[in-house]
Amino acid sequence: MSIFAYSCKAIEIVEDGYLTVATSTPFWPWEFRSGEKVIGVDMDIANEIAKSTKKKLKIEDMSFDGLVIALSKKKCSLVIAAMSATPERSKSVDFSKPYFKANQAVLVKKDSNILSPRDLKNKIIGVQTGTTGDSYCDDKYQTSKYSNVIDAVEDLINNHVDAVVLDEYLAKNFMQKRGDKIKILDEFLFTEEYRVAIRKGNTELKKIVNEVINKLVQEDFVNNKLAEYFSKEEQETEENNNNSAPGLLEQVKNNLFSKGRLWLIINGLLVTFKITIFSLIIGVFLGYLTAVSILAKSKNLFVKFLKMLAKFYVSIIRGTPVVCQLFIIYYLVLSPFNADRVLCAVIAFGINSGAYVSEIIRSGILSVDIGQIEAGKALGLNESQIMWHIIAPQALKNSLATLCNEFMQLIKETSVAGFIGVTELTRAGEIIRSQTLSPFVPLMTTALIYFTVVHLVGLLMAFFERRLRQSDKSQ
Ligand code: ARG
Repeated sequence: MSIFAYSCKAIEIVEDGYLTVATSTPFWPWEFRSGEKVIGVDMDIANEIAKSTKKKLKIEDMSFDGLVIALSKKKCSLVIAAMSATPERSKSVDFSKPYFKANQAVLVKKDSNILSPRDLKNKIIGVQTGTTGDSYCDDKYQTSKYSNVIDAVEDLINNHVDAVVLDEYLAKNFMQKRGDKIKILDEFLFTEEYRVAIRKGNTELKKIVNEVINKLVQEDFVNNKLAEYFSKEEQETEENNNNSAPGLLEQVKNNLFSKGRLWLIINGLLVTFKITIFSLIIGVFLGYLTAVSILAKSKNLFVKFLKMLAKFYVSIIRGTPVVCQLFIIYYLVLSPFNADRVLCAVIAFGINSGAYVSEIIRSGILSVDIGQIEAGKALGLNESQIMWHIIAPQALKNSLATLCNEFMQLIKETSVAGFIGVTELTRAGEIIRSQTLSPFVPLMTTALIYFTVVHLVGLLMAFFERRLRQSDKSQ
């Protein structure tokens, strides 16, 4: 029977019209970024599966150790990420037939005295968190865990770990780019089989996936694609490489001005702005309400309850790290709604900022001279009129400088959104770093952009403050 004959209705698909596949870059040649696009052998397989389901392919790029949870929590329909079936993973998700038998290689420094896996005893091995390499080495050696292999290899080059365990092809790619510093051991550490992960019970989709894999295995699809990516990479390395270390200008050109990388940075900056501005709006709104609730002096039970709630909110937010708050919003609170990641970030940073803004506004309100309130009362104004016409404008003026600080803080803090896969400025730099495998230019560029933006905000604020002071004097 043809694979096209399946009814798509029976397949449990996350979003209608799309087949959502989750993966985890950077993992060349299986999944990696070309500009903003995620490509690679796994994504070619995903494309074939999407064609068979007659759905459009949508790719979600996230951290490797979050993939299985994402699948079981219905954030995607499939995981294709050079993943093998382990007993642990099989408890939560199902796996297709294997599409590739893969060797796990060991990278060491060129001058290392580690000559075979037997020499790894008592050495520190760099692994990607949550991978099979991680669990294999954890039992036998001391490990250092990384969210991606690029950082592990960077640490190997800088002598912080003695070896790195990774997919054979990925290791070969590192050899193409950093072969002057590292080498691959001849003997592999272990072998495994890559499979597609499917949600338990999604049997229709599993059938389609298996039929596609059968077809692809017959066509030797994976090996052909591997060869394709390899020769492309070889060509590029040759073009870029005249065997001498690239100069700064060359590095800038490669890291910023080729393959749409500048766009990646610009789009990242726009996302950073978007998150900062919307979070600040939520933050100021929430902060104002919270401050007023905390300051309220009323015997009314509802007001007392609000006051308690506001105090509780401020102490919880101030007492926990923003990354935790972001994860709780993304993985727990908003997870059932399949909310957009940028929206999750805006909500998390908005709630976080609200607590700090409330303290700023509260001290701004308290700094207003009590005599003015009395004067307002004497003029026959009611409480809310006094608040709006007398207290609020002065409180705002008094707290403008600290509010501006909060704004600056927020711009930088949004870099944490990269943890849930939002491509904001820092993450854009990280993606470029993973493509070029050279850290200097991407890290310095992102730092410089943050600095410029924050500095401009500071200048703008100083200008406003001066204007305010002038208008005070002329009154
Ligand atoms: N094959 C290993 C595993 O199944 C590592 C895969 C890492 N994949 C990735 N896309 N980062 O755990």
